[in-house]
Amino acid sequence: MEYRSQRIAHWYFRIALVLFVLQVMMGLWLAYNYTFTVPQEIVDVFPFATARAIHTNLLVLWMLLGFMGGTYYIVPEETGSEVYSPNLAWLQLIALVATGVIAIIGFLFGWTKGRPLLEIPPPLNYVVVIGALIFLFNIGMTMFKAKRWTVIQGVLLGGLVFLALLYLFGIPFYKNEVIDWYYWWWVIHLWVEGAWELVTGAIMAFVLLKLTGVERRVVEKWLYVEIGLFLFTGIAGTGHHYYWIGAPKYWLWIGGVFSALEPLPILLMVIDTMHHVKHRQTQIINPHTWTLAVGCAIFHFIGAGIWGFAHTLPQINYYTHGSQVTVSHGHLAFFGAYALLNLTVFYFAIPKLKGIEVYQPTRAKLGFWTMCSAMMLMGLTFGIAGVLQSYLERVLGMGYMTAQGHMRLWMGITLVLGVFFLAGVVVTVFDLLFMKPAVRRAE
Ligand code: HEM
Ligand code: HEM
Ligand SMILES: [Fe+2]
Repeated sequence: MEYRSQRIAHWYFRIALVLFVLQVMMGLWLAYNYTFTVPQEIVDVFPFATARAIHTNLLVLWMLLGFMGGTYYIVPEETGSEVYSPNLAWLQLIALVATGVIAIIGFLFGWTKGRPLLEIPPPLNYVVVIGALIFLFNIGMTMFKAKRWTVIQGVLLGGLVFLALLYLFGIPFYKNEVIDWYYWWWVIHLWVEGAWELVTGAIMAFVLLKLTGVERRVVEKWLYVEIGLFLFTGIAGTGHHYYWIGAPKYWLWIGGVFSALEPLPILLMVIDTMHHVKHRQTQIINPHTWTLAVGCAIFHFIGAGIWGFAHTLPQINYYTHGSQVTVSHGHLAFFGAYALLNLTVFYFAIPKLKGIEVYQPTRAKLGFWTMCSAMMLMGLTFGIAGVLQSYLERVLGMGYMTAQGHMRLWMGITLVLGVFFLAGVVVTVFDLLFMKPAVRRAE
């Protein structure tokens, strides 16, 4: 750690890690609901939709905290200066965490806007907006005052501003359902397939630069190509959500063609990362951090690129839309791209924040491989349940609940795999929170 104010990042990371564990525990409860019949008295006080809202909102919250912490860690090094106001960074952290806690308690009492993933009701939305404005102001001022611009900084700031602007489209409620869903996707799709990809590109470029010592010029050249392609395919690719919501027919073509191209920039990211493996200039001190970065690139490609492509053409999506095939892709993509990205940043930054030069990688490796294998298998079991569901409901015309009976086995296996996944998460989180330096071998 070179700058004092980078320390703020540590608290963003710590809170994100605790929320990650809670998020996954709630995932297990959801899978339990699909596998067993929950007594009505429990459903009355804690319905599936509430648990789902907690699972997904915790997901978004911990990942955003991770991105913000990552930004507070990276920007001082890129600008060569301290964060503009550490106090604002604390204020913003407290505001966001308090909002998260109030939102979750609110969900338990039915205080929700109802739209999936964006359940937070308007008064709290405004606190989130204020938090985001403080964050952007703080980061922007740090960059402007330092007057040392890099491409990484530019892409990071651009991605974060884009991310914050899109959030605004999810706040109003439109009485017309078509319009309401139309803008809902501006947040959901343009976040994960637009703004978040820019943030990922910038953060990954920074980590690769620092880990490998590859020339900045080379890293930045790739960054331009990737973000250009991400924006080009991702924005028009929004159409893959407009097939069946009542939007005009031309979206079938636009959505199909452009979203089919979306795996391309993700593949470029894999090639780019591998390119750096070959041409690295320095010895990598903590090779496990490097395993995470490569793992993230590959899992990102599998979950978002391959699994996304599999159901993005209207001819296929007609059958799989809104089934467990979607859930399978949602898990593999979110985990591969954004959970692993955050973990890469945590494993890169936390040792430095703790003043540990070389960390003991045993637990980290165990956690990583347990999580990755369990999640890959969960992607498959969700996927099998989804293909079954598509066939039973959309080809045979079977009713929703009758089809569920046939899918139960696969949801049950998902539940068991989920226990292993949670174990991997607990090992990883424990390792990050209580990291120890590696014991030196006898000289
Ligand atoms: C890291 C990037 C990505 C993440 C995190 C992600 C995540 C998700 C999630 C959570 C959903 C479900 C939304 C809902 O209905 O509740 C979804 C839907 C979808 N995604 Fe992705 N996705 C990513 C990239 C992609 C890519 C690159 C493609 C195409 C190549 C794609 C194609 C789709 C399609 C077609 C749907 C709609 C499925 C349906 O009709 O039910 N996704 N994605
Ligand atoms: C023990 C691990 C987990 C289990 C058992 C689990 C289970 C579930 C279940 C059953 C659902 C509801 C699907 C539905 O509404 O039909 C769900 C939703 C979701 N989960 Fe998980 N989950 C786990 C971990 C995770 C992780 C680690 C992530 C992200 C990194 C994640 C992201 C999501 C998302 C994005 C949705 C919404 C999907 C959609 O709208 O299609 N989950 N989860
Ligand atoms: Fe999408």
